[in-house]
Amino acid sequence: MKEVRLQFPKGFFWGASLASYQCEGGIDNNDWAEAARQGKVPSADPDGPDHYKLFERDFDLAESLGHNCLRISIEWSRIEPEEGEFNQVEIEHYKQVIKALKERGLEPFITIWHFSLPLWFSKKGGFANPNAPDLFARYCAKLASELGEDCVHWATINEPLVYTSNGYWQGIWPPFKRKSIFTLWKVVKGLIESHKCAYTAMKKVSPTHEVGIVKHNIYFHNKKGTNSLIVRFISWIWNKYFLSQVVNYCDSIGLNYYLHHTFGFQKEWSRSDMGWDIYPEGVYHTLMELKQYKKPLYVAECGIADEDDDLRADYIRALVKWMHRAIEDGVPLRGFMYWSLLDNFEWSLGYQKKFGLVEYDKDTKVRKVRPSAFEYKKICQNNGVI
Ligand code: BGC
Repeated sequence: MKEVRLQFPKGFFWGASLASYQCEGGIDNNDWAEAARQGKVPSADPDGPDHYKLFERDFDLAESLGHNCLRISIEWSRIEPEEGEFNQVEIEHYKQVIKALKERGLEPFITIWHFSLPLWFSKKGGFANPNAPDLFARYCAKLASELGEDCVHWATINEPLVYTSNGYWQGIWPPFKRKSIFTLWKVVKGLIESHKCAYTAMKKVSPTHEVGIVKHNIYFHNKKGTNSLIVRFISWIWNKYFLSQVVNYCDSIGLNYYLHHTFGFQKEWSRSDMGWDIYPEGVYHTLMELKQYKKPLYVAECGIADEDDDLRADYIRALVKWMHRAIEDGVPLRGFMYWSLLDNFEWSLGYQKKFGLVEYDKDTKVRKVRPSAFEYKKICQNNGVI
């Protein structure tokens, strides 16, 4: 049989993703910790991977797995525990984190805000507060000036519409508002303005930083007929509207791809432990949709909950194949970050779902690399797949 090699461009970033509240442990001053105290969501402590303490060990693992980048997020409630008061000890902590990444040849991709809000900010109404853009921009500029020297790649906000739909429509995440369309709209507008203000403030601090946003896009199958109108409408609302408002304030765009949706036809796909269809081809279509913005793109998250680890390696290989096809078709894709490096706190589902390349013992915190991580390692080392 003829060997087919799918080679990626030189300098392509291969790695994984993490987010502060989902893996660090010991965070008690944000809206999720407060909701856990009130019994509304599971608690992130004490069963988590304790990444705050064990970050160097985790970065050793990422390096040993052939990664050359890692996406992390910064916990706002650590940096600014009270309005306008910045905690220098925590700033130093993240400086150490970034230094540790660099020492291991892992390019840092920093997400500034990944869903969890400092309590003081959530009490003020979060992003629905008219002052939110200035408050958020002040925090972002602070990070850019403190951590900026060693960090080029920044994203201000992770998945604005997942946040608003879970928090203000479905009511399953803080602040648990249901079908609150008026507030939801205010929050979407607040997030748009917050990103724009943050972008401007960060570029003032360092014009050479690459500042963007991370967006969750869904592939809506585009079948002909009446459904194509529905598809166009939904795709505009979910995939395009937010980006159209911020794209002139983005140097790059991160794509998080997990879901696809069919209209007017049904087909069975095998499913992950989340009950989500396994449809790697969707990454190709969502990337092709983003091509129009003519910005460098990263797949900032894409992964599978698969406790038995019998689907993950094939899923990653299939994603890689489809990402390669996208590059061949002109998509300026620069990197792929698997979600997630570690098993972690899956928000309202607690610790049940296992997305990690690496699992850990919840009592001893000892890490164990899953077999699929070694398959991914071959891809990272070969800069492609054979
Ligand atoms: C989020 C992650 C989450 C993952 C899996 C993404 O929407 O950014 O925080 O864990 O999906 O559900």
